[in-house]
Amino acid sequence: MEEKQEQQVVAMPRIGDKAPEFKAETTQGEINFPSDYSGSWVILFSHPADFTPVCTSEFITFAHMEEQFAQANCKLVGLSVDGLYSHIAWLRTIKEKIEYKGMKDVEVKFPLIEDITMDVAKKYGMIQPGESSTKAVRAVFFIDPNGIIRTIIYYPLSLGRNFDELYRVLIALQTADKFSVATPADWRPGDDVIVPPAGSCGVAKDRMEGKDKDVTCYDWFFCTKKISKDEVLKAVLKK
Ligand code: BEZ
Repeated sequence: MEEKQEQQVVAMPRIGDKAPEFKAETTQGEINFPSDYSGSWVILFSHPADFTPVCTSEFITFAHMEEQFAQANCKLVGLSVDGLYSHIAWLRTIKEKIEYKGMKDVEVKFPLIEDITMDVAKKYGMIQPGESSTKAVRAVFFIDPNGIIRTIIYYPLSLGRNFDELYRVLIALQTADKFSVATPADWRPGDDVIVPPAGSCGVAKDRMEGKDKDVTCYDWFFCTKKISKDEVLKAVLKK
């Protein structure tokens, strides 16, 4: 007789969805997510396991950059399916014993969620059985001050995240919101941004005839303008 395979269907949160709610124990006490973070951006990220090398390099880097993210009104929240005591022991080891790329004596001050039941990890599609059914993949959720998921990036177990890119995404999302623009390929603060498409034939014609001096057009549907690095940083970073 044919064996029937039980398939668990897990809904993955999507960009534009409200961040799924949960209450959890963390290394910084209990949190109610996302309500405790209302008004801030949050990077909610998962890692496969405590006391593993790629994760250790990432935690040191996250902790080292915590203040830089905070300057952009962004808090960090980590998660793995390990228990609280394992988390505490691992974070103590990181602080006391590990020096990585010149970063040492690093204290992880942001909360690390214990998720032995995998309840939170499953809610966020962090368990991807093709990769591992017992460990979370390296997921990164960018959640805005209204609790809306704005970007999701997944990496496999073997690949450490690119922190320049995480920071670039955060600044680009906030720049798009504050200036009502989009950001082109490889955009960084100071590069030209993309203005909303012409909404009428008249505007398209004016743009192509160079009547809007602030705008440069590659074609009628692809126009950019300048926003200086200073303007971006002034709008995004805390004083
Ligand atoms: C690591 O963080 O080094 C790691 C964790 C799980 C699987 C492979 C690598």
